[in-house]
Amino acid sequence: MPENPEEKNKSLITRRSFITKATAAIGLVGVGFAAVPFIRSMSPTKDLLAAGVLEADISGIKEGELRTIIWRKQPVFILKRTPEMIQKAAAIDPKNLSDPATTEQRTITPDLLVTIGICTHLGCVPKFRPEGVPDSDQPGFYCPCHGGKYDSLGRRLGGPPPENLHLVPYRIQDETKLIIGTETFPGYGANIRTIEKLPKI
Ligand code: FES
Repeated sequence: MPENPEEKNKSLITRRSFITKATAAIGLVGVGFAAVPFIRSMSPTKDLLAAGVLEADISGIKEGELRTIIWRKQPVFILKRTPEMIQKAAAIDPKNLSDPATTEQRTITPDLLVTIGICTHLGCVPKFRPEGVPDSDQPGFYCPCHGGKYDSLGRRLGGPPPENLHLVPYRIQDETKLIIGTETFPGYGANIRTIEKLPKI
């Protein structure tokens, strides 16, 4: 213990400064812990990704535009269908298709197709053909590998593909966001071609 008043004073100042710093440090740690739930709630994407679920940004997507995202290492086509695409596909009688499905069985809302972008023949990625697939005025997808054709609902129109493009579970969160996938749905190979057979999310 310092004996003279000057040393005693110095010691008091040092102790006070230590206490002030320690209090400030504890305060910062407290703020850090308090901030954790807030930060988590601000970034759900990390949790969703870990669960095999993806948030897809569809803000600003225009009519007739195809957006391709990668989900579980697979391309997923998000097509904002034009009124013309909707009308042309609706004019096809499903009975004339080898893998019959209606607009309601392929989409939640007719203006948006969400499908795995992998040809059901041997797995190439089909090209988007808004002007029409070869030898047809149907806008849709054309697979250059062996000539597979699909309409704007991803339904098989011709060529070697045995079935329609496979669908993926999705939910329309709002006009800017889709939630795609579920924790357990594996995607391509699950052999899902109509909405009602998809797992719900
Ligand atoms: S892989 Fe698409 S038609 Fe063969």
